[in-house]
Amino acid sequence: MPASIDRYAVFGNPIAHSKSPFIHARFAEQTGQSMQYTAELVAIGDFENAVARFASEGGKGLNVTVPFKQDAWQLATERSARAERAGAVNTLVIRGPGDYYGDNTDGIGLARDLVNNHGLQLQGKNILILGAGGAVRGVIEPLLEHRPARLTIANRTREKALQLAEDFGALGNVRGCGLDEFGTGAYDIIINGTSASLGGELPDLPSTLVGETTFCYDMMYASQPTPFMDWALQHGARRVTDGKGMLVEQAAESFRLWRGCEPDTAPVIEALEQL
Ligand code: ATR
Repeated sequence: MPASIDRYAVFGNPIAHSKSPFIHARFAEQTGQSMQYTAELVAIGDFENAVARFASEGGKGLNVTVPFKQDAWQLATERSARAERAGAVNTLVIRGPGDYYGDNTDGIGLARDLVNNHGLQLQGKNILILGAGGAVRGVIEPLLEHRPARLTIANRTREKALQLAEDFGALGNVRGCGLDEFGTGAYDIIINGTSASLGGELPDLPSTLVGETTFCYDMMYASQPTPFMDWALQHGARRVTDGKGMLVEQAAESFRLWRGCEPDTAPVIEALEQL
């Protein structure tokens, strides 16, 4: 490999099925950027060393995925405001050895997928988000920026939802609750941000959450519909989608941070659907 090629990677564990190398290769082709992007399996406990090694070998930037997003937040020497509040970093810009700028592009990725790709208006909408872990914390602020009428965070462990609602309460109308206290009536948009889908599970949800105009979105992506998507379809949701668009949009925002140019996401989302 010529030394002139800039190196990027995604660090995670597991990482084998990551679509990020495919996505960034398409972006690089489109925009004529000379760069290499690989997926790297990092041992638990070795994140900091692995980043230092990558930086010392001339690496320019990293995406960070499960379970290292909090470690990346800790390691970042400067953080964007949105990463600061998210408590997690999924993008590092390596400015020099030990000099890492941390951002979180997950939330903007979700918001752009909903608004630009699926044509939704979030303003004035009643949005329900399931889960209150790291993945959900990362997307609350960008959703609230669109001024929904209300954002309800519902979680199996109720206290975590209440805490998140409190943490973001200054930014919009947000409330937390348990999975048994949704109230009555359907939501305009339901977003699954639990990791339950990964294990093929689905929390027990009342069918009244879904009305005939409800849009259901799973932040997970898979070649098959997730249990949440199946549930939404069975209950008559108007539209149901997985998180491929979010994945491509968050990647595009990372790419923009690293390379200073905007890739076109639509053909890459379409290419991912065909894989
Ligand atoms: P991530 O970084 O992917 O968000 P996490 O921080 O471990 O991972 O959070 C996982 C989320 O999925 C949590 O909201 C978790 O609920 P608890 O806070 O009650 O643990 C939720 N979750 C995982 N499995 C679930 C299941 N089978 N039913 C309901 N919620 C589940």
